[in-house]
Amino acid sequence: MDYFEYRQGELWAEGVRVRELAERFGTPLYIYSQKTIQRHYAAFDRALEQLDHLTCFSVKANSNVNLLRLLGGLGAGVDIVSGGELHRALAAGIDPMKIVFSGVGKQAHEIRQALAADILMFNVESVQELESIGKIAAEMNKTARISIRINPDVDPKTHPYISTGLKENKFGLDMLEATGAYLMAKNYPFLDPVGMDCHIGSQLTQIGPFVEALEKLLDYADRLKSSGVTIRYLDLGGGLGITYDEEEPPLPADLGRAIGDALAARDLTVILEPGRAIAGNAGILVTRVLYLKINGTKNFVIVDAAMNDLVRPALYGAFHRIAEVTPRGRPSKKVDVVGPICESADFLAQDRLLPGLQPGEHLAVFSAGAYGFSMSSQYNSRLRAAEVLVDGDHTTLVRRRETYEDLIALEIQAAEEK
Ligand code: LLP
Repeated sequence: MDYFEYRQGELWAEGVRVRELAERFGTPLYIYSQKTIQRHYAAFDRALEQLDHLTCFSVKANSNVNLLRLLGGLGAGVDIVSGGELHRALAAGIDPMKIVFSGVGKQAHEIRQALAADILMFNVESVQELESIGKIAAEMNKTARISIRINPDVDPKTHPYISTGLKENKFGLDMLEATGAYLMAKNYPFLDPVGMDCHIGSQLTQIGPFVEALEKLLDYADRLKSSGVTIRYLDLGGGLGITYDEEEPPLPADLGRAIGDALAARDLTVILEPGRAIAGNAGILVTRVLYLKINGTKNFVIVDAAMNDLVRPALYGAFHRIAEVTPRGRPSKKVDVVGPICESADFLAQDRLLPGLQPGEHLAVFSAGAYGFSMSSQYNSRLRAAEVLVDGDHTTLVRRRETYEDLIALEIQAAEEK
């Protein structure tokens, strides 16, 4: 459910006309709906209300500091994977005791930074990483709360690039190795093994793989207990899918029900790390038609947004619904919607049935709130888009459009410092 809808013949973001925003802020433009973010966060919170729980928004999905501040204000924690994301979370005022640090390649300076901030825990992905955290914690005379990321060898049945819970993926430890890691942590004064973690993949559209992973983890937690390690936190990661096209993914409430029973009798705080399910359908990317052209049998609509703004179609062949901001009822034809970048992969849609369009008209690319702006780049020296947040009839610019000065500032500065 989101708050982008057609009324009075045009697309609205909550109480604001999308066309007006496009005219006021220019395009390409990311527009987020505050009500949608609030609604999605609340859905997770409610889904887990019968359990001790913490919802840690996955910062990589949308790292805008103003959105993080909004989520923090609702009570959210965050899942981070870099020092940069930690910096953003702290700047947004997120409570450090609600921050979990995931990722296979945490560097010493990032571990130091997280220990200094006293975050809730590190989701540890290898024995060497555990050793490194232990050493740095000892140097800083701090105790690092850790959780071991288990690779449960569960098939999430999603795109191979975003599948992480199979044993051939680089993520997590298998249970045998994990036991060694837990025992090592237990016997080391500066490490406190408080949790167990997994994340099996992203854009999951079935509940089964979550339940399978949970059962494996609970079974393993019981075995671990008999080895003398009792965990307090169970982090099931993120991964709940959204509707881009025709998918009918489970709702947070379905996930809550499916895991609630298994967890009810346990003295555990459950953590979820949703990214896409909170932000994905809370954002659209608005673009303007530049030119139309026909090459042989192919019709191209050339727009001002490109793969640098939204890379998902190029990278994963991902589908994003595209529609006119102001529908004009013209007959449809099959087109490729492409950007100005010099790459054949620079498309937002291929062979898509769209109504006839004219230069200057606006299109909305839906479900762009997660892994949209956060994966954007300046490729082809394109300025990164502006982002606005709509709340009712009120709009806030939450990231200004980059300028040509921004584009070269660091290079000029580096040359001057030489
Ligand atoms: N936790 C961990 C440890 C993760 O690696 C991820 C996503 C999440 C949570 C959040 O997953 P979500 O709830 O958003 O599915 N760029 C890709 C998605 C990559 C996901 C990577 N990890 C895309 O655009 O589809």
